[in-house]
Amino acid sequence: MRVVIAGGHGKIALLLERLLAERGDQAVGLIRNPAHVADVQQASAEAVVCDLETASADDVAVLLSGADAVVFAAGAGAGSGAPRKDSVDRAASVLMADAAERAGVRRFVQISSMGAGRPPRPGSDEVWAAYITAKTAAEADLRARDLDWTVVRPGGLRRSPVAPSPAPTSPRS
Ligand SMILES: NC(=O)c1ccc[n+]([C@@H]2O[C@H](COP(=O)([O-])OP(=O)(O)OC[C@H]3O[C@@H](n4cnc5c(N)ncnc54)[C@H](OP(=O)(O)O)[C@@H]3O)[C@@H](O)[C@H]2O)c1
Repeated sequence: MRVVIAGGHGKIALLLERLLAERGDQAVGLIRNPAHVADVQQASAEAVVCDLETASADDVAVLLSGADAVVFAAGAGAGSGAPRKDSVDRAASVLMADAAERAGVRRFVQISSMGAGRPPRPGSDEVWAAYITAKTAAEADLRARDLDWTVVRPGGLRRSPVAPSPAPTSPRS
């Protein structure tokens, strides 16, 4: 399978690229910073420079030609403000879905977030609220499309496995 990953230099994308290569699939990472090309190639993926906040759906559709699946794993990231939650976490996902439809790529996996799907809790931090609002809108956009979509809502991910908790000890009789 040829799988195009938006946000190709992200933490999730770099792991996914390695996993896809290990099982014989071909991963393509879309990145906005040319300095990230070498890292993506080291993860055994093809790197393509494309800024998803300035590209058009037609531009991206060309990059999706011949792909079997799209994974949306881009995100404005920690430290970004509310406007970029909208321009990346929502609008770039909509752009990728538009491009997937134009290119005839039906399979679309969206990395959303735990907490999406309902309004942010009253009193939430403004940037967190913008993030959850953007993820919820991106999900709603994808669900309304005639694509074979999957939405994943992870909680906070870690780089290393969590050590298993010790098994409960039974009281000695
Ligand atoms: N990691 C978690 O614990 C977690 C939990 C829940 C949900 N998620 C969601 O899962 C997705 C991926 O998470 P992650 O932790 O892998 O994210 P990440 O490490 O922050 O990576 C996101 C990637 O998106 C790229 N990006 C940002 N703006 C872009 C643009 N305009 N055009 C192209 N690429 C752009 C970033 O590139 P630059 O480096 O150039 O900015 C970065 O490589 C995100 O949507 C995140 O919200 C993650």
